[in-house]
Amino acid sequence: MRPVPADYRRKLLWPGSTQLAPVPAVLAGCGDGTPESPFNLITIAWTGIVCSTPPMISISVRPERRSCELIRSTGCFTINLPPASLAATVDWCGVVSGRDHDKFAERNLTPLPGTRVSAPLVAECPLGLECEVRRILELGSHTLFLAEIVAVQAAETLLDAGGRLHLDKAGLLAYAHGHYYELGRCIGHFGFSVRKKPGPRIRR
Ligand SMILES: Cc1cc2nc3c(=O)[nH]c(=O)nc-3n(C[C@H](O)[C@H](O)[C@H](O)COP(=O)(O)O)c2cc1C
Repeated sequence: MRPVPADYRRKLLWPGSTQLAPVPAVLAGCGDGTPESPFNLITIAWTGIVCSTPPMISISVRPERRSCELIRSTGCFTINLPPASLAATVDWCGVVSGRDHDKFAERNLTPLPGTRVSAPLVAECPLGLECEVRRILELGSHTLFLAEIVAVQAAETLLDAGGRLHLDKAGLLAYAHGHYYELGRCIGHFGFSVRKKPGPRIRR
């Protein structure tokens, strides 16, 4: 067994609470652009992929948010992955309500039409997921929307010649215990712990 670092030997016991970190900080687009359901944005940290086939995602939204009503009434939303350069905008969209503000207009953001959903994407974000709500669960303080990701819009510049997505180029935003971070140094890739190290190169 490896020795437990001295710093982490003594642990405090707290009641259960939402201490998971890091989490994403995304802009969820909602509304359908009609007078009853104008386009809106909400900053969401409580989101995650929950199934790969079909591709599904969850978001947890407090019922008192304007966005909760909009997602419930239109049955869809988008998830937009912001670059760190949009951190102040992400924060602002998370402290003011669409009841009092046109968040797209006031932050100079460009609504991009969805191909499969009526909710807007954010053109300034490199990656956007179009999501159709499949189930709604009332959990307590939050309403959980379980949604299928029915389309993805990715900036072409993030793709290499083989069509592979390089999100590392996007400088994405992360959130941990009240603070925003820009994703930094890559320290491995999926499966690298079991991959054979390449042997020495033999020159011929
Ligand atoms: C970093 C950050 C993360 C947030 N995550 C969530 C979340 O996961 N669920 C939620 O209901 N509200 C979350 N909020 C709060 C909403 O974004 C905020 O209440 C927003 O003003 C609601 O806007 P609306 O009334 O236009 O829907 C978050 C705010 C910030 C700044």
